[in-house]
Amino acid sequence: MSSQKKSDSIASLDQMAKFTFTKNGIEQTFEFPLLSQTLGPEVIDIRELYTKTGYLTYDPGFTSTASCESSITFVDGEQGLLLHRGYSIQDLANHCDFLEVAYLLLYGEIPNQSQHEKFEENIIVHTMLHEQLINFYQGFRRDAHPMAIMVGVVGALSAFYHDSLDLKDPEQRELASYRLIAKMPSIAAMAYKYSVGQPFMYPRNELKYAENFLHMMFALPSYDYQVNKTVARALNKIFILHADHEQNASTSTVRLAGSSAANPFACIASGIASLWGPAHGGANEAVLNMLKEIGKKERIPEFLNRAKDKTDPFRLMGFGHRIYKNFDPRAVVLKESCHEVLEAVGVKNNPLFELALELERIALQDDYFIEKKLFPNVDFYSGIILQAIGIPLSMFTVLFAVARTVGWVSQWREMIADPVQKIGRPRQRYIGPSQRQFNPVKER
Ligand code: ACO
Repeated sequence: MSSQKKSDSIASLDQMAKFTFTKNGIEQTFEFPLLSQTLGPEVIDIRELYTKTGYLTYDPGFTSTASCESSITFVDGEQGLLLHRGYSIQDLANHCDFLEVAYLLLYGEIPNQSQHEKFEENIIVHTMLHEQLINFYQGFRRDAHPMAIMVGVVGALSAFYHDSLDLKDPEQRELASYRLIAKMPSIAAMAYKYSVGQPFMYPRNELKYAENFLHMMFALPSYDYQVNKTVARALNKIFILHADHEQNASTSTVRLAGSSAANPFACIASGIASLWGPAHGGANEAVLNMLKEIGKKERIPEFLNRAKDKTDPFRLMGFGHRIYKNFDPRAVVLKESCHEVLEAVGVKNNPLFELALELERIALQDDYFIEKKLFPNVDFYSGIILQAIGIPLSMFTVLFAVARTVGWVSQWREMIADPVQKIGRPRQRYIGPSQRQFNPVKER
């Protein structure tokens, strides 16, 4: 492949990528536009590849394929950089309230004081759920995983809020966005309350987003519950760190579902389903399960050896990332927060946390993990913090879903407004049988 200056006047395309294909001894050269990005490598526009050449591309896992244009989030895995609308995740996590970041993701600019207040008002009027929707919970088994409840109840929102389903109407899209962001903590906390047989706690709109969630999770009608400020700060940080992460599996799922003009509630439910997988949002729950399985420091080498053994499917949960081949910047923020929270809630000497910190220490010095650039990811530390602040294991991924809803909604809105957007319809490399003779059952 070579590239040369393109002489035509299309502003965003300043160069062409030239490909030479040789098939049956015949050489053919084709040119494709090179697109620039604000940050990151140039992108070859292959939209006309098939019509020009008759070839398809094969890229399972989309490791080299940009599926859309986006101006929301930028990740540089080599540098360990994560920006939302140009702002570093460290700045946002250390200085912002979650709804400030939500505003930034949705509208592209960091809000001033009055925009922030107005946005908060717009959100909090939607924190309650339709009373009939609350009956929905009774249909789930008591031992249902809260993520199963989340997929069901969020999907069911489309049966209750008919006035925010018209994708072509920007006001309805706005309303659906507010509803999703506002109701997600209420739906999540109710999923937990249902699983433990406690009464649902209604939202308290004078509380901040993270505080309100803690209230709905842990308050009881029978006593006065005070939100712990350190815990609320840590949760606010965790929410910000999980708010968006470019075109990951669940976000791509939301975009793909939305590309067929499915309603926003159904799209977000599909994102929740994708997030549930242990290779994605389920990883922080898997981290804790793994730590329990390891049990004591003496067994760490045994599990590290298993993680390195190609014949053993075991992987060290909370280590490695598809994009970050350097420290995950979210993990850096949470690592600091982790020590602070453990101290504040008085569990620093808990054996499970000591085990986690020892595992982190040993893995970071291990040649296998160093060579493969497998650093602790955000889930490693979020799992430890969530456990320390009393969030039950089965709620870990649910909290991730609460936070990521803002990202999903922002990405969905961006996609709907994109004039280039088409229904997502990947091609495939077919490796099944070619056409064959059919024989009726008696002749087989
Ligand atoms: N433990 C042991 N080995 C690992 C691990 C791990 N956690 N992660 C990757 N490797 C090894 C692989 O075996 C592979 O080795 P090889 O090159 O010798 O075949 C190499 O590192 C590259 O791994 P891939 O699976 O090709 O990397 P990929 O980018 O596809 O996977 C993933 C990334 C899924 C996150 C992987 O690192 C993993 O399974 N980690 C554990 C689960 C986890 O923590 N997920 C959370 C991700 S963060 C998030 O969703 C917010």
